[in-house]
Amino acid sequence: MRLFIALCLFFASLAAAAMTPEQLLEVYRAAAATASHFKGFSAERGRTFYEAKITGPNGEHSCAGCHGPDPRSTIDGHGGAIRAECRACHLTDAPGPGERSKMRRHIRPLAPSANPDRFTDADKVELWFDVNCFFVLGRPCTAQEKGDLLTYLLSVK
Ligand code: HEC
Ligand code: HEC
Repeated sequence: MRLFIALCLFFASLAAAAMTPEQLLEVYRAAAATASHFKGFSAERGRTFYEAKITGPNGEHSCAGCHGPDPRSTIDGHGGAIRAECRACHLTDAPGPGERSKMRRHIRPLAPSANPDRFTDADKVELWFDVNCFFVLGRPCTAQEKGDLLTYLLSVK
């Protein structure tokens, strides 16, 4: 009985937060459409945004710098061929000997085709958009930028 109640609560909480990346894209579309010049999202613009090296308040960074040039790839801490910016897992840009990581050994792919958990929890997505957009750009990402990026990520199969 206890387990049954726990399971019910678990699924109820999932139902509250879970959505598909396509549903989330519609949320961004509705938000972006309030701008008069909105002409839809573009995977190409999303890819350019993802790869762009932007000089912001923290120096030169890109989304691809931490999530990998190919958003379908998993980034391994140290052994793997694809290295991310050290800050993705450590607290600093130049960790020294003995420096602990934030307990993160991998960065799993950002593209939903390679990682079905991505863009299914709106709160988590918004939190990380905030953190990363402020880090890279020094401002929040716009609904246009989020929608372009998600359109690009959904296009990589
Ligand atoms: C300094 C490293 C770093 C940079 C640069 C970075 N990210 Fe991230 N990002 C992370 C980490 C760490 C997480 C959380 C761990 C995880 O989910 O793999 C994350 C998670 C996310 C998520 C959460 C998605 C989900 O559903 O789980 C989104 C969205 C995201 N990043 C977008 C961006 C965008 C857009 C940019 C470029 C403007 C960017 N990131 C740049 C490190 C970075
Ligand atoms: C995908 C995650 C990830 C990335 C990216 C990453 N690290 Fe680490 N790093 C780890 C993990 C996990 C450990 C083991 C940490 C621990 O015990 O806390 C570690 C440990 C270390 C240590 C401590 C080694 C020791 O035993 O003294 C150093 C130094 C280090 N990393 C440097 C770097 C540098 C420099 C970069 C960027 C070029 C980098 N790391 C990028 C995950 C990462």
